Amino acid sequence: MSGIESRQPRVDAIDKVTGRAVYAADVRTSDCLVALALRSPLAPARLKRIDVAVARVLPGVVDVFTHLDAPRLDWTSSSEIDALGAEGLGRAAMADSASAQPAYRPLIDDFIQFAGQWIAVVVAETIEVAREALGHIVFELDQLPFEPAAAIRPGAFFGADMQYGFGSDVETGPTSVSVSANYCTPMQLHQPMEPTATTAIWNDGRLTMYDSTQGVHATRAYVARSLGIPEDRVQVQAPFVGGGFGAKNQIWPHQALAAHLARALGRPVRLQLTRNDMAVASGHRSGTRQQVQLDADAQGHLTRLRHDSHVFTSLHGGFFEPCGLSSLMLYTARRIDVSHHVTRLPIPTPTPFRAPGETPGSFALETALDELAHATGLDPVELRLRNFAERDHYHGRDWSSNHLRDCYRIGAERIGWERRQAIPRSLRRDGCLVGLGMATTAYPAPALPAGVRLVLRHNGSLRVETSATDIGTGMRTLLAQNAASNLGIEISQISVHLGDSDLPEAPTAGRSKSTASVLPACADACRNLQSLLDATVGSGGTLLERMNKSGLPELTVEGRANGLSAGESHSFYSFGAHFAEVELDEKIGRLRVSRVVSVLDCGTILNPQLAESQIRGGVIFGLGMALMEEATRHPQTHRILNDNLADYAVPVHADIPPIDVVFLNKPDPIINDFGARGLGEIGLPGLAAALGNALFNATNRRARSVPFQFDILLGS
Ligand code: MOS
Repeated sequence: MSGIESRQPRVDAIDKVTGRAVYAADVRTSDCLVALALRSPLAPARLKRIDVAVARVLPGVVDVFTHLDAPRLDWTSSSEIDALGAEGLGRAAMADSASAQPAYRPLIDDFIQFAGQWIAVVVAETIEVAREALGHIVFELDQLPFEPAAAIRPGAFFGADMQYGFGSDVETGPTSVSVSANYCTPMQLHQPMEPTATTAIWNDGRLTMYDSTQGVHATRAYVARSLGIPEDRVQVQAPFVGGGFGAKNQIWPHQALAAHLARALGRPVRLQLTRNDMAVASGHRSGTRQQVQLDADAQGHLTRLRHDSHVFTSLHGGFFEPCGLSSLMLYTARRIDVSHHVTRLPIPTPTPFRAPGETPGSFALETALDELAHATGLDPVELRLRNFAERDHYHGRDWSSNHLRDCYRIGAERIGWERRQAIPRSLRRDGCLVGLGMATTAYPAPALPAGVRLVLRHNGSLRVETSATDIGTGMRTLLAQNAASNLGIEISQISVHLGDSDLPEAPTAGRSKSTASVLPACADACRNLQSLLDATVGSGGTLLERMNKSGLPELTVEGRANGLSAGESHSFYSFGAHFAEVELDEKIGRLRVSRVVSVLDCGTILNPQLAESQIRGGVIFGLGMALMEEATRHPQTHRILNDNLADYAVPVHADIPPIDVVFLNKPDPIINDFGARGLGEIGLPGLAAALGNALFNATNRRARSVPFQFDILLGS
């Protein structure tokens, strides 16, 4: 694969736009039942009474399950899951295995831990009947008093201690400027296009699941354990996934529940999460309050960086938003202190959400740096250059590759940074204030072990098989490109089969790691195929000629890649810089983002068409975060009030400015043979800060919370 020239439209584009692609809720199987859930409107609570008699006898209703029916579902036997979840905060909740277990199951007892928790599930012949039946269930709740306990300071996470920092014993030297402020980001909902669904089909004691998941192996492990059967009797398929952003990254109880229901009823069951269910049953990003303090000497060198994050999780869960991770590594400072404080609330468990940690964390840190630049009179780019981290000083390793300085330079050129005036409110256009702002983005670039199988047929057609999922990122297309270029065949000869737990294992699509994990395994499989043909028929000739010569009906080979291990000698990060221009009509508080320039250093770009789309999507997420997204929670009931797309605003086409995506395309010499690092999430961190910084430059009013509020947008 030759890098930046390899523009190739998505190989599954036609299947997707014509509706041929089959998603989890599209699977049609004879006599399939549909399950819908009833949510508790408040928490914490005891379910005092629930009456499903009327619902149960509606024509078309097959059964209704509540906690009183838990034994029928055999939910209770899976105590191992409780034990796993009970380890609580600090568990490697982003680890790529089924270790990230849900620590609770619905319909187990009468305790309602969070508002939105399922208190009954209707199983019916059609979704319409199921929906009607939900309305006939009568229940009574006793709300329990709730006072949050003191915040917990979590321990190990991401393999590191979450209360860290360094240089606490060094002399920080003279400080001439100091800024310190609180920054707030809201609870956010993932809102993938495809709501989550699971179709569970039993056959002869074996379970096949079509599930909207980012990781089929993690799902299989959890579901098998919950059912008390060996993993080889469960097959999980997710050939197409309509976006995930983390909502489908972890294991959720509904996945096992569908299988339990199907087993109890002896018929296939499709459990569909409505958009409202999505808000409570597949995670969210927790709200954050972060205090950042930056001390600098007279030249703008940081003497101290302090980043304290206050975040939330559920009463039972183990995930929290790790806001301070990049603050350890991104800039030099003589002393760095990072801490996390987690408060348990009667809310659903938060989960990874595109660039978890870095997204809210970078809003705080990159806004604080802009405040420091203003206070010192330094240009914001210059301030960042003066504190550029030549190496990952926290881990004491060199970067595998870091061209962040080029990102700053090119971004500044492209946006016309020289137009920016250091004094706010200096630029106007068409009656609007104009401001320019920038921020750094960065995201880890991991890679995990992965396998890929190739099946070459006598007619020269090739199947590429791996359990990796394509959640819209382009994995299917990259694999086809990779095999085509390595084997010298046309893409039209290749079919790629993904998201099936019976195929060679690959990591969950998350944490921007699929490309760096799976592509090297595909390249390895291609090498193995060539070697096998060399050994069978000798070298020379096209693949088809060689295959014909072999006289075999088909050839199967596997390839593997080991990924990166914790003991690596380098730190693998992707870097970038966002530059933004905003226009504000402060008489009416109308903010328009007029332009975004994002310059990224993610190593070699294997398919710029897909890569640009990933970055653009991240930028649009950031725009939504800065201008509109906020899940609101009722203070007494803890219910998420805007759990739907009518009340929860996300950017639409008309909100999107021209987004100029530039890739440096400099190969990472260490990470893999392609020199490619991941880029699924890096478009998002820093973007909201770049917009807020531009808004300050326009108005002289500092936005320390998102979404930006009217007191910032309206002139006095
Ligand atoms: Mo992504 S938030 O790593 O699924």
